Amino acid sequence: MDPTTETIADLYSRSLDILASLRARGDAAGTTERQAPRFSITRTAELVGRSGAAIREAEKDGRLPTVERTASGRRVGYTLAEINQMRAVFGTRPWRAPGDPVSIIAVQNFKGGVGKSTVSTHLAQYLAIKGYRVCLIDCDSQGSSTTMFGYVPDLDITEDDTLYPFIRNAEMSSLAYAVRATHWDGLYLVPANLKLYSAEYELAARIARADRKLLNRLSEGIASIEEHFDVIILDPPPALGTISLSVMRAANALLVPIPPTVVDFTSTTTFLAMLYETMGVLEEQGMPINLTWMRMLATRADEQKSMQRELLGVMRNLFGDTLLRTVLKDSAEIDNASARLMTVYELEGPVTSRETYQRGLTYLNAANAEVETLIRLTWPSHAERLRSDGVI
Ligand SMILES: Nc1ncnc2c1ncn2[C@@H]1O[C@H](COP(=O)(O)OP(=O)(O)OP(=O)(O)O)[C@@H](O)[C@H]1O
Ligand SMILES: [Mg+2]
Repeated sequence: MDPTTETIADLYSRSLDILASLRARGDAAGTTERQAPRFSITRTAELVGRSGAAIREAEKDGRLPTVERTASGRRVGYTLAEINQMRAVFGTRPWRAPGDPVSIIAVQNFKGGVGKSTVSTHLAQYLAIKGYRVCLIDCDSQGSSTTMFGYVPDLDITEDDTLYPFIRNAEMSSLAYAVRATHWDGLYLVPANLKLYSAEYELAARIARADRKLLNRLSEGIASIEEHFDVIILDPPPALGTISLSVMRAANALLVPIPPTVVDFTSTTTFLAMLYETMGVLEEQGMPINLTWMRMLATRADEQKSMQRELLGVMRNLFGDTLLRTVLKDSAEIDNASARLMTVYELEGPVTSRETYQRGLTYLNAANAEVETLIRLTWPSHAERLRSDGVI
């Protein structure tokens, strides 16, 4: 090994040590020790779609188990698993009906650092809280989404835990081996690690030898597990490589995060051009990309900066209804949560101020709610209800 290679290898191994100690810290514990948040009775009632009184009644008459209480007799709060059990008892699960297509959402933009993984994980957890059955597939060898569930990809995840074996072995028929439960009831994760990077090259080499149908592997993997889920979220790497192409081919909806800066806007424009071209090429080869909806989402926006405000205005004019109404602002809470290998939905309370925390939660919820409506509109069993409820 030449000295530079040795230095890089050494730096890598020392970085891994630091990650391991970060993970070992209380607030960044590995997934096994992690607990999803608990919800107050008021919030629980809202999430279940029944009154607090109805829930207490069901606990009294034995339809629901009685909940844990503190020494002073207060409920400690309900877990998501308990809330989902209530939904089952009261018949308020929001699951898609058998005829409704599974939603497969790619959170894609070929530009790096625009908030793809942040949007993917917060959307996945938001939908899980709402009671949907969700699978988040980390398709990026950087494993950012995997990290947000408390794993250090290069330490905790092996290549056999990821998409990698399925993508390369045509004889494998199910992706179920890679789907793991998380500490969020109803939310499953297909983790990633560095090895997926090899898949990128291997696929490219094989595709060059006229094995183009390999771009269908991810889609086939999803088909093998989709009956268990309402929504599947794909977090791809920031490049137009074979994995990203596979993601586009597998998706039936597209969410594009864009920070309102000139550089990000420029690269999003390039993304749209490449996407357009790619769609044409894949279509010609009998592998069309079929999207039922596509939306842009302004992310990491700093409205104190006049240039960003201006660009947000331009984006609003240009994209019209394809831009979600909510803007995800640059938030210290999002940064703080990710430094703890978690999301804002997992923070017990504010890291900065209550106001910053609440504001962060408000726009995350608003953006995710917009996406939830788009998803439900694709489900005939829900669309009618949305119309009669006056949501649309
Ligand atoms: N709204 C936000 N406010 C503050 N920080 C944010 C916000 N969105 C993302 N970030 C931070 O920006 C960084 C990049 O975000 P993220 O990893 O989600 O981007 P990405 O598009 O997935 O990146 P990559 O292209 O490398 O996969 C992270 O540190 C994340 O915590
Ligand atoms: Mg990412």
